[in-house]
Amino acid sequence: MTESGRAASRTAVLVCQGRAAAHGRAATDQFADPVAVGLLGVAERTTVDQVRANTPPEGWRERTAYESVRACAEVVVPRTVAIDRALRARVTGQLVILGAGLDTRAWRLPELAQTDVWEVDHPASQQDKRARLAGTAPVLRGPDEGDVHHAELPATARSVRFTPVDFAVDDLGAALDAAGHDPSAPTTWLWEGVVPYLTRDEVHATVAALAARTVPGSALVVNYQAPSARVAAGRLLTRVLGGFVTSGEPWRSLWKPQRMAVLLAEYGLRVVSDDSLLALAHTLGSPARGRTSLRSGRVAVAESH
Ligand SMILES: C[S@@+](CC[C@H](N)C(=O)[O-])C[C@H]1O[C@@H](n2cnc3c(N)ncnc32)[C@H](O)[C@@H]1O
Repeated sequence: MTESGRAASRTAVLVCQGRAAAHGRAATDQFADPVAVGLLGVAERTTVDQVRANTPPEGWRERTAYESVRACAEVVVPRTVAIDRALRARVTGQLVILGAGLDTRAWRLPELAQTDVWEVDHPASQQDKRARLAGTAPVLRGPDEGDVHHAELPATARSVRFTPVDFAVDDLGAALDAAGHDPSAPTTWLWEGVVPYLTRDEVHATVAALAARTVPGSALVVNYQAPSARVAAGRLLTRVLGGFVTSGEPWRSLWKPQRMAVLLAEYGLRVVSDDSLLALAHTLGSPARGRTSLRSGRVAVAESH
């Protein structure tokens, strides 16, 4: 827990574990995240190594963690590829990552060399990420490492500006103003893996706030979940069996593609593509055992003209 009263996001760690597990193993010609593993702690990396080696551990707790990372790796491959493609095709001078978690793009994508990146996230999650990046997070230390500090990772983006915001209570526009974002210049917005954790009102408010800082030439890349009875049942079971994996982070809003398009259009953002992760996984030839969660996960790209 931090002084903000909320613990750092566990799901952000899970997604990072998924990327680390898939790196060099799935869709290797299109997917790569060599940075992810360096942000993980010793115990978190153990599960990643087990998934990479296809060696499920004994014990229900360890096995649940293993299955979560394995399933997550399947989802993040098409999701990352789709988003990276969309970002590479829409490089502007400003990239705002909403709910950045342990996103690695500012340290991974050379295409961002002329782009300033704002990483917006809940203060607790952001504090945890900064400690991981600086190599000072307690979770990073092995049993023999004591107070060892790892070297800070160099960014590939022109700059990275950490901007703490709780979407449920804070004013996103004011926070971005304070952090030097220019609302009169084109911005690429990325909103990955966050929408389900927000209520419909919070999603509306966030779109309104970003649209107020969006000029022609800007784009929004949004990953969201469409409703699915099977996914809902699966998540309920996961929480009952292994609540520690996603604890305290229930899904609050799911969006049919049509509703998402209508919402974005209300704010001048026209959807130009909206793909299911399952279709993307098939194109990539990446693993797709968890067809249900892949089918309901989507990546949409909307542009402002
Ligand atoms: C599943 S993680 C996704 C992280 C990252 N975008 C990725 O895909 O790797 C969800 C992220 O949403 C953030 N988040 C959830 N609710 C939030 C809120 N009310 N305000 C700010 N951030 C929030 C969490 O802190 C976390 O970083």
